[in-house]
Amino acid sequence: MTGRLAGEVAFITGAASGIGAACALRFAEEGAALAGFDLETPASDTGEDWFAAREIAPETLFERGDVRDEQRVQQVVTSVRERLGRIDVLLNAAGVAGGGMIHTLDAEEWDRVLDINLKGTFVVSKHVLTAMLEQQSGSIVNIASVEGIEGFLGGSSYNASKGGVVLLTKNMAIDYARAGIRCNAICPGFINTPMFRAVMQDGPGKVIAEQVREAHQLGRFGEPREIAAAALFLASAEASFVTGVALPVDGGYTAGHRFHF
Ligand SMILES: NC(=O)c1ccc[n+]([C@@H]2O[C@H](COP(=O)([O-])OP(=O)(O)OC[C@H]3O[C@@H](n4cnc5c(N)ncnc54)[C@H](O)[C@@H]3O)[C@@H](O)[C@H]2O)c1
Repeated sequence: MTGRLAGEVAFITGAASGIGAACALRFAEEGAALAGFDLETPASDTGEDWFAAREIAPETLFERGDVRDEQRVQQVVTSVRERLGRIDVLLNAAGVAGGGMIHTLDAEEWDRVLDINLKGTFVVSKHVLTAMLEQQSGSIVNIASVEGIEGFLGGSSYNASKGGVVLLTKNMAIDYARAGIRCNAICPGFINTPMFRAVMQDGPGKVIAEQVREAHQLGRFGEPREIAAAALFLASAEASFVTGVALPVDGGYTAGHRFHF
């Protein structure tokens, strides 16, 4: 098997849909064995890329579970190591949309978003790091967001969770660099996935969708495979001198503002 991840094992959360599934496919195309982890089983309308990845990856496992459930995460990480031998790449893509003006936001809803997006990244990284520390090698890629580096009206819990992921990434980069483990984040702009469609096409974001599209300097939303391309770079040895970055892959969304004269 050839490819930029040949012989490597990638553990991917949120693998059943959207960005996680697209990364699974891209990693499989580059020779990685895959361990997918998600609350949901891949479905034909959201997890097409996972099914395609399964066809070409040298080996695949898929386990259901919640990134907030530390016992379950530990159990799955142990079983992946037993069955696939090691974990070289961790992609933390499990996540949920959220937000709301904080004077009306239920504390339970705040906790839900922070627990899945931020604590979940911590819990999964914690257990995968035990494998990477034994190996003295590994690459972790966390899917944050442009909303982790700048604000968005009503973003509240979502932006706080993704800002937390960005700084957790930088700290993990420092803490594990000397053990041969790199840790980076990707900050996607708005990407055409089931989550995006639920919010921006069928949900409350519908009324601002056109303005949000315009705020991407390239004048369009992104596709999951464009995030997977960046994830592949950061995951692979091609990024061997890259650690602690939060890379916007956002069509220029964070480049600045466009005013019309
Ligand atoms: N789509 C975008 O515009 C966009 C932009 C920036 C960042 N992101 C981030 O990218 C990541 C992937 O999002 P997506 O757009 O592909 O969404 P998606 O809804 O298509 O996929 C997210 C996946 O995470 C899983 N998941 C949710 N909660 C979980 C939990 N508690 N435990 C395990 N799995 C869980 C879901 O079942 C789903 O399969 C998320 O972290 C999201 O915040 C998305």
